[in-house]
Amino acid sequence: MNSDTVLEKKSDQDLAGVSILVVDDEADIRQGLQFLLTKLGAEVRSAGDGIEALDAIGPEGVDIVLTDLMMPNMSGSDLLLAVKERWPLTTVIVLTGFGTIQSAVSCIQAGAAHFMTKPFDNSEVRRLVSRLGRSVLAARAKSRPAVGSIIAEDPAMLEVLELVHRAAKTKVPVLIEGASGTGKELVAKALHDLSHEKDRPFMAVNTAALSESLLESELFGHTRGAFTGADRSKEGLFAQAKGGTVFLDEISSMPSAFQSKLLRVLQEHMVRPVGASEERAVQFRLIAASNQDLDAMTRTGAFREDLLYRLAVLRIVLPPLTERPGDIEPLARFFLQECAADCLEPGAAIPELSTDALAAMRSHRWPGNVRELQNAIQRAVIVCRGSRISAIHLGLGNRSQLSQNSAEELSYQAEKQVVIERFQREFVNRALETSDGNISLAATQCGLTRAAFQRIMRQLKIDRHDFA
Ligand SMILES: Nc1ncnc2c1ncn2[C@@H]1O[C@H](COP(=O)(O)OP(=O)(O)OP(=O)(O)O)[C@@H](O)[C@H]1O
Ligand SMILES: [Mg+2]
Repeated sequence: MNSDTVLEKKSDQDLAGVSILVVDDEADIRQGLQFLLTKLGAEVRSAGDGIEALDAIGPEGVDIVLTDLMMPNMSGSDLLLAVKERWPLTTVIVLTGFGTIQSAVSCIQAGAAHFMTKPFDNSEVRRLVSRLGRSVLAARAKSRPAVGSIIAEDPAMLEVLELVHRAAKTKVPVLIEGASGTGKELVAKALHDLSHEKDRPFMAVNTAALSESLLESELFGHTRGAFTGADRSKEGLFAQAKGGTVFLDEISSMPSAFQSKLLRVLQEHMVRPVGASEERAVQFRLIAASNQDLDAMTRTGAFREDLLYRLAVLRIVLPPLTERPGDIEPLARFFLQECAADCLEPGAAIPELSTDALAAMRSHRWPGNVRELQNAIQRAVIVCRGSRISAIHLGLGNRSQLSQNSAEELSYQAEKQVVIERFQREFVNRALETSDGNISLAATQCGLTRAAFQRIMRQLKIDRHDFA
């Protein structure tokens, strides 16, 4: 058995649970890729152009998009921008018959994780998708002890952390508010781990994912025969908590009829399982989380005001990442260590974060907050082949970076300089990476003389040893 067969066997069904969208106007390629990737165990859909692709992605998004560049109706590069804007965490791989270094650089700048030219080798695509898919799964499955792993150095976050410690020792309901990816679930687990009831269960439920009737049986339990398919009775989460924590995530999506039922449970600490005639007493501490403005929702009547009072005896508000700039670098270093342990061979050197990578992180807007930063670092560790992570590896896209720099105080000349420098840096880094730090080779590839190439390197303080 050769090593490729071993690899194939090992990766068989590895990607169960990963969703992939293949986009190409050529039916043969589309079907070929769909067949190839389905064999990895992933759930694969396909589309013939960018517009069909956005339809096929649906509101919940997909994990990985593999797209051609030249397509009718909506090109691959427009699709890449649209995907990155709506789903910054989706991994995009560009496959194209028209590979130039410029198109590769602009796709990577716009956030693509990888660029491959056609005709491609099936085993190469399989290996790349397996690797990226496994890191999607690793990120999803990660559940580490919460308390010690909250990184907080910025004063804004230190204040939050202090409140978390104080709140943990009480039994009152806590409402955690913050935009997507700010760490609400992590804080909820920390509250439980720091509480006196830390050895009791932590029961989490995402209320947005369940219909009203499912929520009721999930939280309150049901008797045998209560509905079709209920062939045995089941305890609800409130009862299973046995004095521990019930964590209700995305509470703003809770159906309004269920809001009244929950209010009663909070008032009485009694639940009536579906199909039961008697109520039973339950002991729990409630933590809820929301990424919506619940106060505004109570004003429009979408959320019950009396329920909000009950849930939010204590409120913990997690600031968006841009409002705690002091956390960006420590978080990046933390995720780098964590991801290197997951993604690199044992004993392999962990790449360093370059100054331009840190600058790019500081000026990015982070719509996906900490989760987006975690993803950017993970992507960089996978994409970077040298010893140094530079801005280009992070795939933050230059739109958001530009919008930060384009404040009125920057003159046309100054802004032009910023753009040119960024372009030069990414271009030179990429060339040095492909040539393993060989300056003559890199210069030839770019069509520059060795002297001109070196001059740019000096101006930008780029060291060839970082790529050797
Ligand atoms: N301060 C932090 N220190 C270390 N890791 C963090 C921190 N904040 C968030 N994370 C990590 O970032 C990721 C996103 O956090 P989490 O799932 O808690 O966010 P969330 O606010 O619940 O997001 P959503 O609203 O999308 O559900 C997780 O992997 C989490 O471990
Ligand atoms: Mg969450």
